[in-house]
Formats: sequence, structure tokens, C-alpha cells
Amino acid sequence: MPSVGLPSSELVAAEGIETQIRRVRVGDGHVLVARLTSGEVVAFAPVCPHQFTELDEATIRDGTLRCPRHGYLYDTRSGENIHPGRETSPENMWKVRPGFLPCYQVREEGGWISVSDDPSPPPLAYDPALEERPARGDGDDPAPVGAGAASPAAGGAPVAGGAPAAVEQSLKFLTAASGSTFEIRLPLVPRPGFSWRFEVVGELLQVVDEQFEPGYSPCHLVRVAAHGVGAATLSCIYAGEQGERAEVRTFIVRVQPG
Ligand code: FES
Repeated sequence: MPSVGLPSSELVAAEGIETQIRRVRVGDGHVLVARLTSGEVVAFAPVCPHQFTELDEATIRDGTLRCPRHGYLYDTRSGENIHPGRETSPENMWKVRPGFLPCYQVREEGGWISVSDDPSPPPLAYDPALEERPARGDGDDPAPVGAGAASPAAGGAPVAGGAPAAVEQSLKFLTAASGSTFEIRLPLVPRPGFSWRFEVVGELLQVVDEQFEPGYSPCHLVRVAAHGVGAATLSCIYAGEQGERAEVRTFIVRVQPG
């Protein structure tokens, strides 16, 4: 468990509007840490699993984090979604798609806080199958990618060439075997200066190859290697040279023993 170099004295206990959430670097990524009023320190992913809002400005009450965007609630110890997940029937879960908040093990000793660089296992209540849209038969919502298997072309509305576009967001849940690689195909709609970029939270995933795949529907093929066991987040961002985002596709990947 690597030290994040955060002295205990710099993280005071406070919840509600006084929540002090600190962003710290762990490995190649970042996590957020906070001290609950009980004194316990919790660590969790920096973006909301619902629609990827940064959680630096979130609030915490009774150990429950509230995302500032749509008010989804997550348990900061287990990552379980509390609202709306607990009030939503299984057949409607795909409509709200709360996912889970990746959490990290924390150790505090000798006046310093350390955070594991691997996320803890998903909460028991989390079932990725419930969050998949039921098959409609029109082929516009691809199935999750299986370990080592190529995905169908990713769906969603294309970005109009050269025209300003709202940021399109999508979230998908995948499973991969540790030690395997899997592929994701992203649509390629020509837009000057724009390209796909990738951000990985945690060290379980690594983008090992990218290439243009020609054909009737040309796409950007990404090959990702999975290592270890746990959950990780891969964000695929279609962005311009100045960082302006046109589309974000985020994949929550559960890596299982190979
Ligand atoms: S983005 Fe966090 S609740 Fe919707």
C-alpha cells in the first residue's frame, strides 16, 4: 500500500457542507480522501459513476456521499449506491444506472495516510447485468465486451462534423479476465483536430494498442490489457486540441481472476 504523502493532520473530520475532500495522487491516478466525523478516513474515485461528474465538490453526511449533479448517494465505505438504487426495482435499474463508487482501502499510522492503489471489490449489492439496457433488437446498443473478445462497434449518436456538439456521455459495464486483453471499437466521425484519448483510474487496465480500422463503418480500435483483480474505470474521450470534449464513453471494468 503506497503512501500518498498526506499527513493525518491535514485531513480534519467534517461532514455536510463542511466536508473536506482532498484529491491525492496514487500510482498513476488520483483518488479523493475524506475523514468522517467518526475519525475514519475513506478513499474513493474522483468521478461519479453515474455521469462522471467530478466529486471534489461533493458533500458527505453520515458516511454517505452526495454527488452535486443529480444527487445520487453512495456509501463511502463500500461504494454501494443508496439512492436511487435501493428504491429502484430490478427491472428499472438500467434506467438509472447508478453503478457503484470505486473505493480504496485506507491505512493511517504514524501520522500519515496511505491508500491502496487497487480499488476494493465491487459491493455485493452491485449487479452489472441489471444496468444493461434490455435488448431491443435494433443493434444500436452494443453488448458488453467479454474478456479477450472483440466488441461490436460502439453505438450512440455520432458527432456532427465541424458543428458544435453537446458532450455525449455513456456508461457501460464490462468484465475481463486478469491477464487477458479486450478490444473496444469507438466510432470515427471526422472532426478536424479531434481524436480519442484515454484515462484510466487505477492500475488494473492499460491501453496497449490503438489503430484505425477501415471498413464500411471505420472505427478507432483500442486494445486494453487487464491485470490483477478488482474494478477499474476507463474513460474514452473524443476531444479537440484544446481539450474541448465532444463525447465521453466510460467503461467500468470488473477484472476477475484469469
Ligand atoms: S453525475 Fe453524479 S449523480 Fe449524476
